[in-house]
Amino acid sequence: MPKIKTFYQCQSCGYTSPKWLGRCPDCGTWNSLVEERKEAVTRQSSFLTHLGKSEPQSLSSITGGYGQRTSTGMKELDRVLGSGVVTGSVILVGGDPGIGKSTLLLQALSGLSRYGRVLYVSGEESPEQIKIRAERLSINSNEIILLSETSLEGIINTASKLSPKIIVVDSIQTVYTEELVSAPGSVSQVRECAAKLMIFAKRSDIPVFLVGHVTKEGTIAGPRVLEHIVDTVLYFEGDRGHSYRILRTVKNRFGSTNEIGVFEMSDSGLIEVENPSELFLLERPLNVSGSTVVASLEGTRPLMVEIQSLVSQTNFGMPRRTTIGVDFNRVNLLVAVLEKRAGLHLGGMDIFVNVVGGLRIIEPAVDLGIIATIASSLKNIPIDPKTFVFGEAGLSGEIRAVTQAEARIKEASKIGFKRAVMPLGNSEKIKNNPGLEIIGVKDVEDCLEAVLT
Ligand code: TYD
Ligand code: MG
Repeated sequence: MPKIKTFYQCQSCGYTSPKWLGRCPDCGTWNSLVEERKEAVTRQSSFLTHLGKSEPQSLSSITGGYGQRTSTGMKELDRVLGSGVVTGSVILVGGDPGIGKSTLLLQALSGLSRYGRVLYVSGEESPEQIKIRAERLSINSNEIILLSETSLEGIINTASKLSPKIIVVDSIQTVYTEELVSAPGSVSQVRECAAKLMIFAKRSDIPVFLVGHVTKEGTIAGPRVLEHIVDTVLYFEGDRGHSYRILRTVKNRFGSTNEIGVFEMSDSGLIEVENPSELFLLERPLNVSGSTVVASLEGTRPLMVEIQSLVSQTNFGMPRRTTIGVDFNRVNLLVAVLEKRAGLHLGGMDIFVNVVGGLRIIEPAVDLGIIATIASSLKNIPIDPKTFVFGEAGLSGEIRAVTQAEARIKEASKIGFKRAVMPLGNSEKIKNNPGLEIIGVKDVEDCLEAVLT
């Protein structure tokens, strides 16, 4: 009998300790250490030894490789992947339960089955349940092979025999390798299984999609370890209350990050939304204070989104600040800038900021939208509905230029906007103006003057 050793491992970041601890010293999560057993013979380095077998070679002597991309037949999915699936790549799709990960991947497999046999491995649903979903999506094909299996060795065995064009593993948390004794879903199992699938993908040139569940805190179990291992990380986001779903690239070794794909969940599966700007502005109230449209840029794609703010008198001593879809600290910072540089009195006010449609905007160009709507709500002056804004604000109240101004105004003009308020640094450099009135602003005061008249 080999000697059995036990240790405690943080289920959030993978930190290990010989003793149990109430709080992980590495990532600070409470009650996340779980006892795991490992045989004294360590297999920790199996990933490295597998990959390290090749001989050193010169860069110029290497041919082919990752050039080949396969279209999934879904334009929005191809876009976030960087125009198609790269051979031998491993793609992690994360998201809340019930958001539509299995639906998305089944639809993608249906598109990919044009090229040959594809394998769908499910540890969560039986083949009958998958069949019911497929019927709902009107998918039927001889080339889609279903496998109900949770043993990694079993999956790799079947995959080697079938040699499919692509493999989907739904989900990585249900898969276990017989080499480890810990339970499926624990950090060491998730890491080891993902690493082994990665090696399999690289050797066989078969791309692998991994579905990853998101924990209550909003991270994929063992996120740091998994995100390092895989080539591409996609998050499927959206609001349960809305039917829009957004697929966002967080990491991509073969394309740009922060790219988004927009879908709508219907009765018969996910429908791609080609014109998301129109969709997000569909129910916009006109001539109401505290609302404007920002020309935002997600990856390479401009997107017009409505920002709303509500400023109202505080009833309690502590003013409340709530944000949905934009960074909370960013809003606090902009409120301070408005107080100090534009002389607005916001100290005794509750402030709520919302991005309409369940969208999340990370880029700083949204700053002008936040500033404009807060001021508009405070003064109760509506912003002209044909006006849109974008630009970053600095701490001294200056408005800074952002990237790709021309792409933003082109999108805006396409859906009928007439007037643009943007940083002076951008407006001076616009060469192709599609007939918009362009107002360059250099500081916060300028901006408020331009939007509130
Ligand atoms: P699912 O793909 O099972 O989610 P996940 O794999 O991320 O857990 O999606 C399930 C949800 O999507 C469920 O609430 C039902 C809904 N749905 C539709 O609205 N229309 C459809 O055509 C399908 C297949 C699912
Ligand atoms: Mg599922």
